Amino acid sequence: MNLVNYEISDRVAVLTVDNPPVNALSPGVPKGIVEGVAQANKDDDVVAIVLIGAGRGFIAGADIRFFSKPWPEAEESLSDVLKSFEDSPKPVVAAIHGHALGGGLELALSCHYRVIVSMAKVGQPEVKLGFPPGAGGTQRLPRLAGVEAALDMIVSGDPVMAERARDLGIVDQVIKTDLLEGAVAFAAEKGLSGIAHPLVRNLEVKLDDPDIFDRKRDQIKHRARGMRAPYACIECVEAAVAMSFEEGIVREREIFKNCVGTTESRAMRHVFFAERAAAKISGVDRDTPRRPLASAGVVGAGTMGVGITMNFANAGIPVTVVEQHTEALDHGIATIAKNYAATVSKGRLSQAEMDRRMGLITPSTRLEALEQADIIVEAVYEEMPAKKEVFARLDSIAKQGAILTSNTSYLNINEIADSIAGRKGTVLGTHFFSPANVMRLLEVVRTDTVDDDVLMSVLDLGRKMGKLPIVSGVCHGFIGNRMLEGYLGEATIMVEEGATPQQIDRVMYDFGMAMGPLAVADLAGLDIGWAKRKAAGGGQAAEKPGAFIANRLCELGRYGQKTGRGYYIYESGNRAPMPDPEIENLSRQAAEHFGVKQRTISDQEILERCMYPLVNIGTVILEEGFALRASDIDLVYLNGYGFPVWRGGPLHWAGTIGLDSVAEAVRRYSQQTGSDHWKPSALLEELAREGKTFEDWDGGKT
Ligand code: 3HC
Repeated sequence: MNLVNYEISDRVAVLTVDNPPVNALSPGVPKGIVEGVAQANKDDDVVAIVLIGAGRGFIAGADIRFFSKPWPEAEESLSDVLKSFEDSPKPVVAAIHGHALGGGLELALSCHYRVIVSMAKVGQPEVKLGFPPGAGGTQRLPRLAGVEAALDMIVSGDPVMAERARDLGIVDQVIKTDLLEGAVAFAAEKGLSGIAHPLVRNLEVKLDDPDIFDRKRDQIKHRARGMRAPYACIECVEAAVAMSFEEGIVREREIFKNCVGTTESRAMRHVFFAERAAAKISGVDRDTPRRPLASAGVVGAGTMGVGITMNFANAGIPVTVVEQHTEALDHGIATIAKNYAATVSKGRLSQAEMDRRMGLITPSTRLEALEQADIIVEAVYEEMPAKKEVFARLDSIAKQGAILTSNTSYLNINEIADSIAGRKGTVLGTHFFSPANVMRLLEVVRTDTVDDDVLMSVLDLGRKMGKLPIVSGVCHGFIGNRMLEGYLGEATIMVEEGATPQQIDRVMYDFGMAMGPLAVADLAGLDIGWAKRKAAGGGQAAEKPGAFIANRLCELGRYGQKTGRGYYIYESGNRAPMPDPEIENLSRQAAEHFGVKQRTISDQEILERCMYPLVNIGTVILEEGFALRASDIDLVYLNGYGFPVWRGGPLHWAGTIGLDSVAEAVRRYSQQTGSDHWKPSALLEELAREGKTFEDWDGGKT
């Protein structure tokens, strides 16, 4: 099959890249382009060349799969293509629709001219894969768009739309009519004009502000904590300013090559493919017809209900939010208005758009107001009887075929579905993460009885809301919270054994977590776990390691941030945790209570004892079939629990350590403590024995 087609139109050679789905520069594409350019230059009738993409976009960049395997030796490379353009006596015009990304934009930048349609975007997203652009993007873009705009684009990886690209000088013309026709006319005119055709490499780089690079480094220091690639991007653009074009290209190549091999880049490429894999559900046809979800209901206007309601409005879906009492309902609606107003004041939402979204929200105190809703999300408090009562009422109110979901974070949704047996096929879980209007993760909990079209419709809805939906089976705490119990549990046990909350949190923060586990516990509220332990009949005598200090703190009314004190002290109006000397005292009491000798715990032990339970329980979830694939588990932790993206998620990261050493440590801790979260996973043992990583295992499911 030809990946690049050659045709003549009005004395212009049209090279069409046809490599579905996104026209990546896979083997065969560079070769086809180089040959096409040569053929056009040999044909005396041809006056110019247009390069265009077939299908949904121009070119999405290098084929990312080839960063993990060798490029075929005999194949032309991207740099051969760039050279063929720049050496071409006949002008080459890139005609862009959809997207010109990464190597796709770099290729366009080495053409003599670029034209674009208004809905297309161009960008250098390489930093999101853990490396800077490697085919001249960091040298050519500053020459065209200026240093500041180029630096912003390359360091953020975010694309710009066509009109902005034209204003920045990245493209020459926005074509409002048919792209191919417009591009051919443009190219023919240039080809016949007899002028010398411009090359970006010959432009000067102008730098007005010499502090721009240091300022950028300072600007990204929180977002890019622990990462190499964003800084590598800055170095490359600095080279564009400090060096000649030729030297800059060599420098860029060198930095690019160093970055491609890092664990950071491998992790980020893993995440790229993981996100695409997550949309595929084994055993369910991708093309299963979806149910129309044109109207929604949310039951409960508490913290979660409010965030979920906003998600519907953000997605343009009219939503009725129901709360029993007028006061609570008014408070919920006021919170929504306040949240939107804050976004407006930051300039990230227009007042008109806020008004439009508020207009999509209807408050009501009557559940009957949901009778016409296509989907209803229950977000009442986390108790099975309360949830079942809501579902029983919805059973008599909701129209036939309406999808009913629960926002439970732990409870058995199969039991809820069974409780309204006639609607089993339309009941499932949608576990949003707080704040629900902000957090990207959405666990879609697949009951044993949910219909495939219902599942697929809810996954689509999640994406429409801007979420990353991950399918989980029904188990206690689903994927994320089930794993969290081991992570938080081990952190609190270590406080009893003599580590301070500050030490534990520092180790995990330095590892790259957004927050340490004890600061997270304070943020979430210690009273939630306390209530659960009390409900499960756990009096002081039945206290398990890890619960002692939290129980005492709660008995003292110290629930964490919301009461100004938990594992840390919080000054009013300040969320920065301050060490609390009383924790040491409580920790000694805990050690006495459990007969543990307190000791100095090393940073390495803290890291292992926090992280390895995540890996071990994650693997159990995988072997029990509650997650479809290991990479889904990684995505849950990356998008819901502050795990650093450049480590690729807990299971990918475990592979970089070596599953044999992780399994050995799990066995060792299991012998020392006997806690449930250390019970070695059979699958972890198996992979470790066979010298494999999770990437080698698909469980026969994907
Ligand atoms: N290489 C290989 N496969 C790619 C790819 C690429 N550059 N871009 C997308 N794909 C694959 C996806 O894995 C997916 O495969 P699947 O169907 O088997 O799961 C398929 O193409 C469709 O992708 P999406 O689901 O993401 O499609 P969308 O329509 O939602 O998005 C897109 C299209 C905006 C182009 C998006 O795919 C994207 O952002 N791609 C990556 C762009 C990128 O990062 N380019 C830089 C590459 S590195 C580079 O060029 C280095 C250079 O500087 C030397």
